[in-house]
Amino acid sequence: MTQNSLPIGIFDSGVGGLTVYRALHDRLPNERFVYIGDTARVPYGTKSLATVERYAIENSLFLKRKGIKLLVVACNTASALALPRIREATGIDVVGVIGPGGRKAIEITKCENPKVGVIATEATVSSQAYAVAINRACENAVIMQTACPLFVPLAEEGWTHEAETYSIAAKYLEEMREFQPNALVLGCTHYPILREVIQETVGPDVKLVDSGEATADEVVELLKKRGLENPHEVAGDRELCDDLDHFYVTDAAERFARVAERFLGASPARLKALELYSGDEWQKPDR
Ligand code: DGL
Repeated sequence: MTQNSLPIGIFDSGVGGLTVYRALHDRLPNERFVYIGDTARVPYGTKSLATVERYAIENSLFLKRKGIKLLVVACNTASALALPRIREATGIDVVGVIGPGGRKAIEITKCENPKVGVIATEATVSSQAYAVAINRACENAVIMQTACPLFVPLAEEGWTHEAETYSIAAKYLEEMREFQPNALVLGCTHYPILREVIQETVGPDVKLVDSGEATADEVVELLKKRGLENPHEVAGDRELCDDLDHFYVTDAAERFARVAERFLGASPARLKALELYSGDEWQKPDR
């Protein structure tokens, strides 16, 4: 197999990275994907730097052993905390979601002194990774960040329009609404699922930035630049989660499949549960 025909690896702390998978899949119909969701150890957003780094490296080495041409770290928390260590440990091309999300926010504000909001997990907010990326793209940008941890279970539960979700969003986003950013980065894999509630809460003039979509746009360009696109046309129409894409989880495969159905309207044709211990892999029976 040539390098071009290898799949693209994607990892996330769990099911949320499927929003990034969907964005990649939409733009790259000739590519195959191999995804690992670390469902046994999710959430990463409340964990320490050392722990997130260790988990992120284990997931990345697992995907490297599967044979991939590029690694996309779909998890915002892992991208914010562990990207340098992942690059060092794997020695392969790695794309995280923070840089693309930050650059996109500046690109769409189109003003000299933009106001940019970021909503993300606690760990991503405290890392300041988005603030650094946004100020790298525009040093005049004024940034406000808010952690919205309850958005993760609400998205997984499929509570996309419930009264409770609106009320939690109103509480988390009260100051953000007053700040009225030109752009608001959805800096967590799950938040695009709650896009409508978030937009209604902050008001129609705030442009929402999906960091997964921004990343997928940059991956398309990167593959072209590196000459890594798959030259072989995939026969027939590609479907989300069809049997060309392989999915792995570290626990609870059935729940992953159920939430995938909720997020994507499809559940993986090929899904395996396994355990990762210090880079080794044991097959777990599907439950
Ligand atoms: N995938 C995580 C992120 O994008 C959200 C879930 C978690 O806390 O692990 O930050």
